[in-house]
Amino acid sequence: MAAEALRLAAAVLLLLCGTLSFPLGPETNPATTCGYESCHATKANMLNVHLVPHTHDDVGWLKTVDQYYYGDRNDIQHAGVQYILDSVVDQLLKNPDRRFIYVETAFFYRWWKRQSPSMQQTVRQLVDEGRLEFVNGGWCMSDEATTHYSAVIDQMTMGLRFLNETFGACGRPRVAWHIDPFGHAREHASMFAQMGYDGFFFGRLDYQDRTHRMVQLEQELLWRASDSLPPPTADLFTGILPNGYNPPEGFCWDQSCDDPPIRDDPDLEDYNVNDVVSRFLGIAKAQATVYKTNHIIMTMGSDFQYENANLWYKNLDKLILYVNALQANGSKVNVLYSTPSCYLQELHRANLTWALKTDDFFPYADSDHDFWTGYFTSRPALKRYERISNSNLQTCNQLEVLAGPASRTGPFGEGESQTMKKAMAVAQHHDAVSGTEKQHVANDYARRLANGWQRCQVLVSNSLAALSASSAKRIYCDNLNISVCPLTESSRKFAVTVYNPLARPVSWAVRLPVNGSAYAVSDAKGAAVDCQVVPVSAATRGVRRNRGFAVNELVFQVQAPPLGYSTYSVSLLQNGPPPASMKPRHPAAIQNEYLRVTFDPDTGLLSSLANLETKQSIKLTQNFYWYNASDGNNTESNQPSGAYIFRPNSSTPFIISQTAKTETVQTSVVQEVRQWFSPWVSQVVRLYAGSRALELEWTVGPLPIDDSLGKEVITRLDTSIQTAEVFYTDSNGREVLRRKKDFRPTWTLKQSEPIAGNYYPINSRAFIKDDADQLTVVTDRSQGGGSIHNGSLEIMLHRRLLYDDVRGVAEPLNETSHIFPDGLVVRGRLLLSLERPPVAADTHRLIAQEMVLQPLLTFTDGDLNPNTRLEFSGLQAALPPAVHLLTLTQWDQDLVLLRLEHQFQSWESKVSSQPVTVSLQKLFSTMEVVGVSEMNLSANQWKDEMRRFAWAPQTDETPVLKTFQDISPWEVTLRPMEIRTFLLRVVLR
Ligand SMILES: *[C@@H]1O[C@H](CO)[C@@H](O)[C@H](O)[C@H]1NC(C)=O
Ligand SMILES: *[C@@H]1O[C@H](CO)[C@@H](O)[C@H](O)[C@H]1NC(C)=O
Ligand SMILES: [Zn+2]
Repeated sequence: MAAEALRLAAAVLLLLCGTLSFPLGPETNPATTCGYESCHATKANMLNVHLVPHTHDDVGWLKTVDQYYYGDRNDIQHAGVQYILDSVVDQLLKNPDRRFIYVETAFFYRWWKRQSPSMQQTVRQLVDEGRLEFVNGGWCMSDEATTHYSAVIDQMTMGLRFLNETFGACGRPRVAWHIDPFGHAREHASMFAQMGYDGFFFGRLDYQDRTHRMVQLEQELLWRASDSLPPPTADLFTGILPNGYNPPEGFCWDQSCDDPPIRDDPDLEDYNVNDVVSRFLGIAKAQATVYKTNHIIMTMGSDFQYENANLWYKNLDKLILYVNALQANGSKVNVLYSTPSCYLQELHRANLTWALKTDDFFPYADSDHDFWTGYFTSRPALKRYERISNSNLQTCNQLEVLAGPASRTGPFGEGESQTMKKAMAVAQHHDAVSGTEKQHVANDYARRLANGWQRCQVLVSNSLAALSASSAKRIYCDNLNISVCPLTESSRKFAVTVYNPLARPVSWAVRLPVNGSAYAVSDAKGAAVDCQVVPVSAATRGVRRNRGFAVNELVFQVQAPPLGYSTYSVSLLQNGPPPASMKPRHPAAIQNEYLRVTFDPDTGLLSSLANLETKQSIKLTQNFYWYNASDGNNTESNQPSGAYIFRPNSSTPFIISQTAKTETVQTSVVQEVRQWFSPWVSQVVRLYAGSRALELEWTVGPLPIDDSLGKEVITRLDTSIQTAEVFYTDSNGREVLRRKKDFRPTWTLKQSEPIAGNYYPINSRAFIKDDADQLTVVTDRSQGGGSIHNGSLEIMLHRRLLYDDVRGVAEPLNETSHIFPDGLVVRGRLLLSLERPPVAADTHRLIAQEMVLQPLLTFTDGDLNPNTRLEFSGLQAALPPAVHLLTLTQWDQDLVLLRLEHQFQSWESKVSSQPVTVSLQKLFSTMEVVGVSEMNLSANQWKDEMRRFAWAPQTDETPVLKTFQDISPWEVTLRPMEIRTFLLRVVLR
């Protein structure tokens, strides 16, 4: 108690003095020489070759993350991370000149926990002396195409926090390192810049782009990764590695390689030093011609290498010795052990200007028929599960903070969020949510998420019990999307609590599987809520198989307050009206107060969409098609479609059906036209009362393969909008990028795959527009898409393939499960909105956000205890619409991490693209904020201590954007697209 009061007083005192940097002083420890100071000296008048010993350790791919750690299942792939770290530490101790970088904290953390205190001390010393250096340092090396920024920030925060807490400032990586991801997102670059990295290196980019950059000496560049944040906030120096992430040809000395060792005994027959040195000099000099400075980098390592590090280091020691020995005879090549940050420091010292890039590195092709655009959609069920898991985790994190310690130990036992945090963090890996892992590994990621969610459920139940003063047992229904929920299917009286993780109130349509035909629903104030009962569709019965038996769905609108819940009571009516009836065929139109959609009388397809508020209308047809996946047998190339690569046999997809069989249900709450295209494709066109979005709920699968043809199913929207072959996609769920068919902004494209070469990742939304109309499609997971024809937007929904695409996974992407031995069925939703540009953004931006962070439903059976608190908000007031509460999570005892985000781009909206000020003190209803300090985006540095290298662009036409000062440390101002991260000291009220 006394201690708490003291700290509180200190925080208030600091506030009065106007400085708020608690709780630590400067991070530098003068006794150590890690970081840039620990780099080996270079020679100004020579070509300096930086040798970077490294290992690339996938956090799951052909084996699960645990199998990789232990070196289990070496029959699948010889790889054991624990042995790599053992061996490297041993070898680093043998020669202080040696260097090693380590990247994936998910593995390092596992290893560290199992080391003795003396080994930990030894490793600490290696880190303090810069001999072992962490780069990137997130829990994993995330995929860039299919990850959502919120989950990427979380996984980076988790890894970097472990490094800081274990090693202090010397554990802080200076360089971001994405050597393997298959294309690079602009939003990742923006995040890395805001996380304080001085530079970024990667290995893969389009082969034409690379050729162009080699000629132009632009393999090192300055990436300006935001058009809203004032430079240099989102500027990131970016280097493209010379050889992917492999050693130069002939210089792989790992136990997994066959290159000749350096045989340096002149008495022996096989003496080869002269040969090795001259080959090396040749490669170094050739490499220097395509980079700008007298420094070049060579990555000495590859996938899971250094398990027997002696082999590598023994030969590298000799290489350095013999190459540098020639300097005595006038050689101008200097080789050294180095790290990416030491190399970066030399580039920075060169004081040059660098080409400025403002677009991104998608799509990635490694040859003319080999576009890595299939993984944008691969494993659509896992992609959705990952996305909904993020939503559930954010809810779990928020409730842990809002209810305090009661959430961790309460009536339901010990709850915790750590398991789910780790499961989400490994799921961001570039072979996880990307869908490019083996099937058993995909199952492992899903199992981890499910385990995590179970632990979080206990926490959520405890929190809701504390906040509502009711310890009634909470039941979770994770299969509502297929109308399965044992409680609602059988109960005559139950309550549903809707928790809203957004910082503004939301309305949401709830659909509950039931077997009664009439129900009464009342809200938290006891008022009756309009509700309707509609029959469960044949498609839903098909996809749920034998997992539930509801015949009807109860549908009603709920409202939930910001960061809070509202509880609705549901009871079965004995003598109520019958359920709404299905009518055969479709009406000419369905409409609500905002939207009107019409259907073609003959085909049953959509024919137009109108916004009744803005009085705009477009022609809109939508249908389903499939591309025949290449089996690799054709004249241009033998590349098949696979988990990574999308390669249709023909640019014209097959139509699944010209017409849809339809039936319709129309009620005061919802109107649905159910379309049936084939036994494996159906859809519901759905319009809820009061909604500004038209919902298309698609159900696709099992994709038939009895014709021996792999299938890639798309839906295509064809409109009257004049798009001039341009469309727009979001980057990791944040800023939007312009895409033009057969065009790349920084080089002249020779297009060789007219469909696959025009596909881009759609993370949460894509749109097409002209001067009058903007049609936005919000997706519920990452998907690939393109605009191949004027006015058209296509989205790939599902893929089932019969061949491996020869990129290592060595399995065809042919997903089945015990419930779906005949092939996975996947269901999802697209939300369509029609707006008037250029002020279009508000509606679709908010719809997209509601799709990412969804309300969580919990159920209690029977009557509610009369003392139950039926409504609660964790905020004193809703945040302004432009502000998104991105993170609220427990950091430490009485410390919470808060991220606030301005969610509009600077040009996006007249109303919302303005700076907004938020008061931190008046934010929460359950706790008082007594101290605040601002951190960098990844929360591993105090904001005022963040210093980054400055880099100059060759040309700079970016308009100068205004910066703003906070009114006070408690009143923080957010500019368009800005995310601000705060550590708050809180006291529960
Ligand atoms: C880094 O970790 C140390 C403990 O090792 C902690 O005291 C400090 O607050 C951390 N720094 C940041 C920025 O979180
Ligand atoms: C870097 O270059 C600029 C412009 O050429 C020059 O003004 C500046 O002094 C240089 N800085 C260093 C440290 O050499
Ligand atoms: Zn990898």
